[in-house]
Amino acid sequence: MDVERKPLDDTVIIRPFYSTDSEQVLNVYFTGLVSGVDSAGYFAVTRAFLHWAPMYLAYFLSVSGGGTLLLALRTDIQILGLAIVFLSCCFMFFVYYRIRNAFLGYYQDGLRHDMTDISQYYRQDHEKDGYPIRRFWVAEISSMTSESGYEVVGCVALDCSLNRDEPMIGELKRLFVLPTHRKRGIGTKLIQTVIAFAKEQNITSLRLETTNFQPVAREMYTRLGWYHHDTRDSDFEAGDMKMSFVEYLLPL
Ligand SMILES: CC(C)(COP(=O)(O)OP(=O)(O)OC[C@H]1O[C@@H](n2cnc3c(N)ncnc32)[C@H](O)[C@@H]1OP(=O)(O)O)[C@@H](O)C(=O)NCCC(=O)NCCS
Repeated sequence: MDVERKPLDDTVIIRPFYSTDSEQVLNVYFTGLVSGVDSAGYFAVTRAFLHWAPMYLAYFLSVSGGGTLLLALRTDIQILGLAIVFLSCCFMFFVYYRIRNAFLGYYQDGLRHDMTDISQYYRQDHEKDGYPIRRFWVAEISSMTSESGYEVVGCVALDCSLNRDEPMIGELKRLFVLPTHRKRGIGTKLIQTVIAFAKEQNITSLRLETTNFQPVAREMYTRLGWYHHDTRDSDFEAGDMKMSFVEYLLPL
């Protein structure tokens, strides 16, 4: 597929996370996971609303119910039309609500784990004998409209929590770029930053987990040399498609 690509200009800086970035990083995280274009949440909603037979039935019922409402002369038939419109709209809203809730759940899992207090989770002063190795980076651009003078447009993390006796496998996670700044090479640059740092730390391989609901990310990982290692089903479905967690590995 031909994708328009804007050049990565030198105003994009990849740097370590500062505690003052928290609010902006959470916005990037929320957009990247739940609501933004190409997020898993967005894919799930699109999948259910555009490619699922029961949804077409709901569209048909709401249109035919609406037509009945407009054309019928008898009140009881108008009430029936109203009931059909109402029920099919409820069905659509329920599907949307269920999907949104599932992805809010994934978002909140992250908040319970490392994303509520990023400085604390990724701090370096608790490393003993060099472990755990945890780092968080952001991509920033200068911004005239923001009070701080910059805007955080992307982020990524490395988490290598195992101890020295185990194989040194780091996890690349929290890779997100704001939709308005995609296709400029920022995602690639964030991944390269993690790889370069992991090599410095003698980490022997990297892993990451994504989903089959993130085709853009999966294509990017494959293009950058990651290989598919494992797939496991989740219990979440959107429309007729089951979500799976897909693991990729990159030997360093
Ligand atoms: C995946 C993601 C981080 C990529 O960020 P990005 O800054 O656009 O990445 P890059 O600009 O480095 O692009 C990487 C490649 O993907 C391609 N690409 C990016 N967006 C694309 C799209 N919507 N459709 C097709 N290809 C796309 C780029 O053209 C580029 O290919 P190339 O190297 O052959 O030119 C970003 O799309 C994103 O945040 N997605 C939502 C969250 C997500 O899925 N994160 C991964 C978590 S596992």
